[in-house]
Amino acid sequence: MNRLVIENLSAGYGAVAVLHDVSLELNESEFVALLGTNGNGKSTLLHAILGFVKPTRGRILLEWDGRTVDLTKLPPHRIVNEGIALVPEGRRLVPNLTVEENLVLAGSCPRARNDLARNLAFCYATFPLLRERRTQRASTMSGGQQQLLAIARALMTSPRLVVIDEPSVGLAPIVVAQVFEAVRALQAEQNLTILMAEQSFFQAVDLAARAYVLSHGRIIRTIDRSAGSIDPEDLRRAMMGLEAA
Ligand SMILES: Nc1ncnc2c1ncn2[C@@H]1O[C@H](COP(=O)(O)OP(=O)(O)OP(=O)(O)O)[C@@H](O)[C@H]1O
Ligand SMILES: [Mg+2]
Repeated sequence: MNRLVIENLSAGYGAVAVLHDVSLELNESEFVALLGTNGNGKSTLLHAILGFVKPTRGRILLEWDGRTVDLTKLPPHRIVNEGIALVPEGRRLVPNLTVEENLVLAGSCPRARNDLARNLAFCYATFPLLRERRTQRASTMSGGQQQLLAIARALMTSPRLVVIDEPSVGLAPIVVAQVFEAVRALQAEQNLTILMAEQSFFQAVDLAARAYVLSHGRIIRTIDRSAGSIDPEDLRRAMMGLEAA
C-alpha cells in the first residue's frame, strides 16, 4: 500500500523543541486533517515533511510503488522530486508574475517538466477562473483566488501527495468554504492524497477521513470518522488541550 508514515518524530529550532514523538500516517487517496490552534506545531510538522526543518529524532517514510525513502535524509528539492508538494501558509506566490507564469514555474521542476502541458490543462480544467485570469498578476487576485492558485501550483509538480498549510488564513468564512470545497472535490474526484493543517477545525474535520489533533507539539487525539460521528464538544476540548469530559 502506498503511504507516508511519520514515526516518533521530534523536531524544533535550535534549542527550541517544538514537536515531540509525533507519529501519524497518510494512505494513498486519503484526506487527513492536522488540527491545532496557533503555535502548536502544525507548520513545523509540514516543514519537516518537506525537509525545511530537520528532525532531531524519528523518521518520515514515503512508501510508494514498492520503494521506501526516508525523507529526513533528503534535501527539500529531492523531496519535491519524490512527489510531495507543499501549499504554504500565506500562499507565497510570486506576486509580480502572472497566474500562468506562477504555474509554469512550479511545473518546470524535473519531476513534472515533461508533463507541463498536461498539468496546466488539468489545473485550468479544475479551476476555470485561473484560465480566465491567466495573464493577471498574482498579487492583484483576491485572497481566495490566490489560495486556489497556490493549490494549482502544487498540482503542477505532479504530486503523489499534497500538503496544505492552513488554506483558510486571512479569508472570509464564505471564501474558506469555497476553498475547502475545491480541496474536497479534488480529493474525491481525483483521488488526491492530502494532508491539510487547519485551525478551522469543525469545517476541516468534516472533510477529512481522519484527523490528528496537535497540542504543544504532541498528537493528543486521533479522530477516525469511520469509527462513528464526532462529538463536537470532545473535539473542542481536544483543540483546547483539555482532557475528554
Ligand atoms: N523559525 C523558528 N525559530 C524558532 N521558533 C520557531 C520558528 N518557527 C516556529 N517557531 C515556534 O515553533 C512553535 C510552533 O510553530 P508553528 O508555526 O509550527 O505552529 P502552527 O501550529 O503552524 O501555528 P499557526 O496556526 O499560527 O500557523 C511556535 O512556538 C513558534 O514560535
Ligand atoms: Mg502554521
